[in-house]
Amino acid sequence: MPPLRVWALLIFTHFIIIGVLSQRKPIKEALFLNSDTFGNATLDDCVWKRDRDVCPDPNITLNLYTESYPFKKQVDLFSEDWLRQSDWEPSHETILLIHGYAGGDDTLPIIVLRDAYIRRGGYNVLMVDWGKLCQPPCYVAAVHNLRPVARCVAEALGNLRKTGLRPDRLTCVGHSLGAHLCGIMSNYLNFRLNRIIAPALRLDPGDARAVHVLHTNAGRYGESARLGHADFYEALCSHVWSICYQAESLFRAKSAAPCGRRCSVRVPPARSSALPVPLGQPAPMTASGAYCLEDFSAPFCPKTSGLVEGDERCCLDKQYAAAATTQPPRTRPRPITRLRSRILHSYTNDTAFDSD
Ligand SMILES: *[C@@H]1O[C@H](CO)[C@@H](O)[C@H](O)[C@H]1NC(C)=O
Ligand SMILES: *[C@@H]1O[C@H](CO)[C@@H](O)[C@H](O)[C@H]1NC(C)=O
Ligand SMILES: *[C@@H]1O[C@H](CO)[C@@H](O)[C@H](O)[C@H]1NC(C)=O
Repeated sequence: MPPLRVWALLIFTHFIIIGVLSQRKPIKEALFLNSDTFGNATLDDCVWKRDRDVCPDPNITLNLYTESYPFKKQVDLFSEDWLRQSDWEPSHETILLIHGYAGGDDTLPIIVLRDAYIRRGGYNVLMVDWGKLCQPPCYVAAVHNLRPVARCVAEALGNLRKTGLRPDRLTCVGHSLGAHLCGIMSNYLNFRLNRIIAPALRLDPGDARAVHVLHTNAGRYGESARLGHADFYEALCSHVWSICYQAESLFRAKSAAPCGRRCSVRVPPARSSALPVPLGQPAPMTASGAYCLEDFSAPFCPKTSGLVEGDERCCLDKQYAAAATTQPPRTRPRPITRLRSRILHSYTNDTAFDSD
């Protein structure tokens, strides 16, 4: 057996490699994440949480990134006064960022958003890491764990609120299963979230004061029916790109025009007088109805968007972009179910659901 120092070096190198891979891996690979291509875990390694398991849970952590300290700092959920002693800035909006299936604290695509918020400045970013409870191939366990995870995150937020976290400055931004967590969590909170920004998933407008849904794949696997207070339909059809649209909105407002339920539908007469609104982060709390963005360039890619603050990981090669923007025939009709009541029963082995 190698001496301790060699083990330490091996483990250290392992993390460097994982770190480099996760930084370099283009965002398009995140689109193809599935149980066959990720790690060596088997179904026997899945962790199944129970509703009555205690919080805080060592496998559900919150990490703080701030403008003054843009590095990972794990929130001590046992401490009474952690927030006040941290770099958390009370006057800044707090973004609760939640990854989806096969994600973690340092995985694509969610880190594009984390880095964009940090680079933009003026935000506290609280990242939820529940990676051990949603690792591949444990998709069914990940869905099963949504409720216990949401309960623990809600409890943590409740405690942070006692030491200064302001609900009216709190926005939950979730990707795929993470967006579901934003919605389910609101059932466990004894206050109301200010806003939820999520890709096309089933959220209830009652979950926050404002629920803004970014639909990128309407007509494909996404839900094309309206779901939030305001629904934004983006021209490009990738669920991962909604992350890039959201990131771009931090640096450059892109305005979306009122439209029908789908971009192809003409604006109903009653709404034709409504004004365009910016999509993403700068969307006003009062936005309501459907808005469409007709822009076919890859968002947040420095080359195509002309944004120096952009992120290379949002760039796609031409061939891939062409494949992603053609709409394949809809092979499987998606059930229209309400998040709260039926999510845990309706998605059993739906790999298409979160593979984008
Ligand atoms: C998975 O197992 C194979 C064979 O044991 C090994 O070569 C590979 O490095 C492992 N991959 C990971 C990500 O651990
Ligand atoms: C945390 O996850 C590990 C697997 O990574 C598991 O072995 C352990 O039981 C989990 N702990 C709890 C409290 O769920
Ligand atoms: C889902 O179904 C496919 C084929 O129907 C099967 O090969 C796969 O193992 C299933 N996955 C899970 C997580 O049950």
